[in-house]
Amino acid sequence: MVDNVYGKYIPVLEKVMNNLLENIQKYNEKEKNKTGEMAYEHLIYRIKTHGSMAEKCHRKGLPQTPCAALHDIRDAIGIRIICRFIEDIYVNIAYIKAIPNCRIIQEKDYIKHVKANGYRSYHIIVELTMPYEDASEICPGHFFAEIQLRTIAMDSWASLEHQMKYKRNIENSEMIVRELKRCADELAACDISMQTIRNLIRTEQ
Ligand code: GTP
Ligand code: MG
Repeated sequence: MVDNVYGKYIPVLEKVMNNLLENIQKYNEKEKNKTGEMAYEHLIYRIKTHGSMAEKCHRKGLPQTPCAALHDIRDAIGIRIICRFIEDIYVNIAYIKAIPNCRIIQEKDYIKHVKANGYRSYHIIVELTMPYEDASEICPGHFFAEIQLRTIAMDSWASLEHQMKYKRNIENSEMIVRELKRCADELAACDISMQTIRNLIRTEQ
């Protein structure tokens, strides 16, 4: 195994991630001052560990090099934005689209196209142009990040399902899969009701 799949690029990755985080957080503050409500509840972020990235390169048949880890694979930087209401997800996406050095290059809408197990979330891959040399030794460089946007309800389901999936080393039974899907659908129905209630409150104000 290589020393570090990211080579010399870890400090640069951190700067790119912090710049994107600052932009997103700035917007949340602005929204809060303007409307009294936050654009999102909270966010979490991480740089994929060297071990997980090396494993992902191996799984995808790629060499364990900075170029593979930072160009071929595009989720070295991961940000998860947890929103209170479904419509807030789309408000945040519109804002991300407007960040000058940031371009959305892939969107996966698992809210409209729910995964068979009930997983819901909106995933985007963004390309960030920044004044640092990238893994192809080009400057300004192109960097990538995966942003997942979910409601609190979607996030609670995904985190419990993830925990249960990884704790078991036997295949989930049909009944467990069905029950998990039922919970996901019930939470989704609550998300729609909460959105409707907020819309009603807003029209009354
Ligand atoms: P990669 O090639 O590994 O990126 O897989 P992919 O592109 O087919 O998957 P995708 O980008 O759609 O989703 C990857 C991430 O979404 C995972 O790392 C999880 O964080 C999340 N995710 C996707 N599906 C599920 C799911 O069924 N359950 C949970 N808990 N999380 C999921
Ligand atoms: Mg992916």
